[in-house]
Amino acid sequence: MNEMTSVSQETSAKTPALPDAQTVTDVKHWTDRLFSFRMTRPASMRFRSGEFVMIGLMGEVNEKTGKAKPLLRAYSIASPSWDEELEFYSIKVQDGPLTSRLQHIKVGDEVIMRPKPVGTLVHDALLPGKRIWFFATGTGFAPFASLLREPQTYEDYDEIIITHTCREAGELTYGRELIEGLQQDELLNEVIGDGFWKKIKYYPTTTREQSPKMGRITDLMRSGEAFDELGVEPLNPESDRAMICGNLAFNLELKEMFEEYGLEEGANSKPAHYVVEKAFLD
Ligand code: A2P
Repeated sequence: MNEMTSVSQETSAKTPALPDAQTVTDVKHWTDRLFSFRMTRPASMRFRSGEFVMIGLMGEVNEKTGKAKPLLRAYSIASPSWDEELEFYSIKVQDGPLTSRLQHIKVGDEVIMRPKPVGTLVHDALLPGKRIWFFATGTGFAPFASLLREPQTYEDYDEIIITHTCREAGELTYGRELIEGLQQDELLNEVIGDGFWKKIKYYPTTTREQSPKMGRITDLMRSGEAFDELGVEPLNPESDRAMICGNLAFNLELKEMFEEYGLEEGANSKPAHYVVEKAFLD
């Protein structure tokens, strides 16, 4: 069964246990627009860091049929492949069909998940390189929260640059705490190597609220400011690899810039220099 047939499959609203249900184990609210949560992971579920799954809740009961069907959206898994639980990072849209309700979940609640991970933001879709760039806006940080905790990221690259552009400073907190937390993560320091996190260069920017670095990353790259401050040359196909996850306009703008740099888009079936995925918006 694929996601499309699962999504449209009608299920009786009276069924007590949700299909493919997982149990919420933790919820954190970061701002009035952002929250993250953790839930149980099916023992049989395997995925590659950077992939996404369909998750959601039971929809409203249809008055005519008396039935409800699952309301599902694509969510990047924010936890790494080795984690025994699953983590997700979500926007709250007050009139969004799913997130208007999902934002109220509590520990012990059930969330539906189709355990069929897919996606292009995976190491397999890139050719070997020296430096990897992760470009995110808003909740597009989620797949990189997974990849920054994935040992292969540090085995494959000498340098990891993560840029995150958000409207407001508070929207950077989830990412910043995660990156700072890597320094104290005893398990990762032991498994990957003491001080592995020194390979990371973090470049957070805001566009609508004052912060130490203002501006869209795209503009800061065009002006050369981002490269000067990071102490690196602009991306080139010999040494640089990149993953993009943000809103549509951001993804398209970066794709265009990368093509100018001579980078080619990769896929699972044909690894190349960069890959793109659209961040979920409800
Ligand atoms: P801006 O405030 O200038 O629109 P959103 O919440 O709308 O998805 O946006 C998240 C962040 O992405 C915002 O800081 C926004 O900047 C930025 N952004 C939106 N479009 C682009 C783009 N084409 N290139 C770079 N950054 C963008």
